[in-house]
Amino acid sequence: MIVGFIVGFFLAVLFIHSSTPERDDYVPYYRYGQDVGTHDHVNENTSIAEKLYSEVRILCWIMTNPANHQTKARHVKRTWGKRCNKLIFMSSAKDEELDAVALPIIEGRNNLWGKTKEAYKYIYEHHMNDADWFLKADDDTYTIVENLRYMLYPYNPDTPVYFGCKFKPFVKQGYMSGGAGYVLSREAVRRFVVEAIPNPKLCKKDNTGSEDVEIGKCLENVKVLAGDSRDTNGRGRFFPLALVDHLIAHVDMKYWYWKNIYYKIEEGLNCCSDNAISFHYVLPNEMYVLDYLIYHLRPYGIVYTPDALPNKLGLGELMPTPTEPKEQNEQEEPKTSDKAETQKVAQ
Ligand SMILES: *[C@@H]1O[C@H](CO)[C@@H](O)[C@H](O)[C@H]1NC(C)=O
Repeated sequence: MIVGFIVGFFLAVLFIHSSTPERDDYVPYYRYGQDVGTHDHVNENTSIAEKLYSEVRILCWIMTNPANHQTKARHVKRTWGKRCNKLIFMSSAKDEELDAVALPIIEGRNNLWGKTKEAYKYIYEHHMNDADWFLKADDDTYTIVENLRYMLYPYNPDTPVYFGCKFKPFVKQGYMSGGAGYVLSREAVRRFVVEAIPNPKLCKKDNTGSEDVEIGKCLENVKVLAGDSRDTNGRGRFFPLALVDHLIAHVDMKYWYWKNIYYKIEEGLNCCSDNAISFHYVLPNEMYVLDYLIYHLRPYGIVYTPDALPNKLGLGELMPTPTEPKEQNEQEEPKTSDKAETQKVAQ
């Protein structure tokens, strides 16, 4: 019996050491949000991205708060944030590493609307000439800034328009989800700060409410158009959920996202544009993983040639409506010929 016990004990030890630990077992050993550094690639041709960097200037402002400076915001700065032409952390306390702005606002979920107004007022006062487009993102949003420039490239920043992931309710023309990030043209910022905010008939005066719905109402009231950010195949580019929940069919189709999304979109690989712009609910560590997957990992022997840049649009002009993704078993409707023509903002 003793021999059996000893043999059993060693077999058990052997078994424990040879089995792969569960993913959760690793967690205590992570150095959470560790900067992973970077390196250049000799064979990379970034000339088009560089052209867009100087022609489509993006100011990114990150909604954050003092409790998130170290745990979330700094990882935005080390990853995707560094690709913005100008990066500003909007908080209520200063921070040397982040160079954060201390807005005159009390923190809390109930004050996010107030903070959004203060942030755009600050930008209007200090940075209107530093960029053409002004992106709001959360500190758990990940943005592919090059693809944002590509989408915005044809547009004139003096056109009153803004883009993001559009939802149907609350605002007639729809509004953009806060978590997926939304981007305002220079003219949209001007109308918001100069015309909308000071007028309580156009814009909610107190600081409570959902910031994304409230800014959506204000912008509609000053005739800033809620733009269509889908690509030419009708695939979305801004995502308010984690990528996994867009990519892999969601069991509960009644989930608020599917009910409220403005354009019909698909699950599975057709969910998402090959030039997607943003994902939400990204953990700090995942930002470094995405940076690696997007900017470093390359399947050997597959060379990608980008499409030519589209023509620039005139003031007030919009890109044509994309073709809707086809549903299975659906009869294709005859398209009216004016559908593909350039549209115009009602001034
Ligand atoms: C890089 O790409 C641009 C645009 O496609 C092209 O004009 C240029 O010749 C390329 N440069 C090199 C070194 O291949």
